[in-house]
Amino acid sequence: MDLSESASVAELETVLDTDPETPASQPQTIGIEALGQMTTVAQGILALARARALAPNLEKTPRRYTLTEVAELVPMPRKTLEYAIQTKDLPKGDASGRKRLFTLKDVEEFRRYAGTLPWRAAGTRQAVVTVANFKGGVGKTSAAIHLAQYFALRGYRTLAIDLDPQASLTTLFGLLPDSDVPDEATALPFFMGDTPRLADIIRPTHWHGLDLIPANLALSDAEFALAKRQGGETGFVFYRPLLEGLDALGERYDIVVIDTPPAQGFITMNALFAATGLLVPLTPAMMDFASAALFLRMLTSNLDVINQYEGREKAFDFVRILLSKFEPNNKVHQQIERWVRKGFPGTVIAKNLALSAALRTGPDMQTAYESFVGDRRTLRRAMEFLDDVNEEIEALVREHWLSEGRAGARA
Ligand SMILES: Nc1ncnc2c1ncn2[C@@H]1O[C@H](COP(=O)(O)OP(=O)(O)OP(=O)(O)O)[C@@H](O)[C@H]1O
Ligand SMILES: [Mg+2]
Repeated sequence: MDLSESASVAELETVLDTDPETPASQPQTIGIEALGQMTTVAQGILALARARALAPNLEKTPRRYTLTEVAELVPMPRKTLEYAIQTKDLPKGDASGRKRLFTLKDVEEFRRYAGTLPWRAAGTRQAVVTVANFKGGVGKTSAAIHLAQYFALRGYRTLAIDLDPQASLTTLFGLLPDSDVPDEATALPFFMGDTPRLADIIRPTHWHGLDLIPANLALSDAEFALAKRQGGETGFVFYRPLLEGLDALGERYDIVVIDTPPAQGFITMNALFAATGLLVPLTPAMMDFASAALFLRMLTSNLDVINQYEGREKAFDFVRILLSKFEPNNKVHQQIERWVRKGFPGTVIAKNLALSAALRTGPDMQTAYESFVGDRRTLRRAMEFLDDVNEEIEALVREHWLSEGRAGARA
């Protein structure tokens, strides 16, 4: 069975797409050799899924937009936009059947022409939204990718950072963490102190206006590296590098979205300390709620230590709980929603992210903002609540820029 790294798609198909054989008798014990083989097979399955999803050239291709979609995105009345396209030096789009299709870069040009590029008061800082919860599988990565794509779609200069060694966010960008992302292309060398600038590890993505710092499994070594530096480097503070690295990017981005691992640790602490806003996805199940309560307790006690160390208070511009994978007809979900909304007034995002087929990443690895496939109605419904959730976060970010801008103007 050839599933090695060099196996071709045809070889992978020969092995994986045939009917399962009657299993050979299992060895008595499972040791490193058998586990190693399972690892290879798992990698082969991922490689095949990606080859199918991203045929023909193993890259995600950016979505293109119809004239109606462009008019909504700019925004501009469709007729006015059509007239401007005909009469001005603006992108004409590519013909696709009877439609014309435009790229997100074209949309940016239309926005520049219409004066609708997102505006941010001078002297305000980039917003850094960290998505975190120690509980696994609650929809952190899903919230993070859709938030990042939403901001890019609205014309904000956006950076997504994958700080989870599981690298799910990286995978959603069409990259295989094992083979497409060398260790030095992740945030690992930055946390180790080998690469002083985040700028050196940022890469563009298939989304115009959305850059990425990817992850792979090696990133977990950053936990040890940060602990070691704390012990060995005078003046080094383990939770500060990311904040300092992001500050050093200056005016390059409006928004940074950080996806974190489902674990407490030095990497997550960096993401929390760098955050101006915190988004906590919560699935409305009792055990998950208990876990979120623990997360809040840990966060409070960690911040307490940090505040004492810093001699001043770390405060977020906003903290929001997002009820995710919500089933409106599920009685437990309804009960927990009531408690959470009552208990944390003003802290829960108004719209819940419903459990939806359009938000369950399938083998095609498409996000809701990229997808053409599947049932259009399901997709449209998912898009509506997704947009509502993201709009609320956008409003929080903008509100803060406004007050920061005003304070700056007074100073
Ligand atoms: N609203 C939703 N409806 C349906 N499926 C969802 C929804 N949100 C997330 N999922 C699916 O649930 C799974 C877990 O989601 P996700 O990876 O976003 O969680 P996570 O909190 O980042 O997990 P981890 O803690 O492992 O990083 C994924 O398969 C994702 O596609
Ligand atoms: Mg995740």
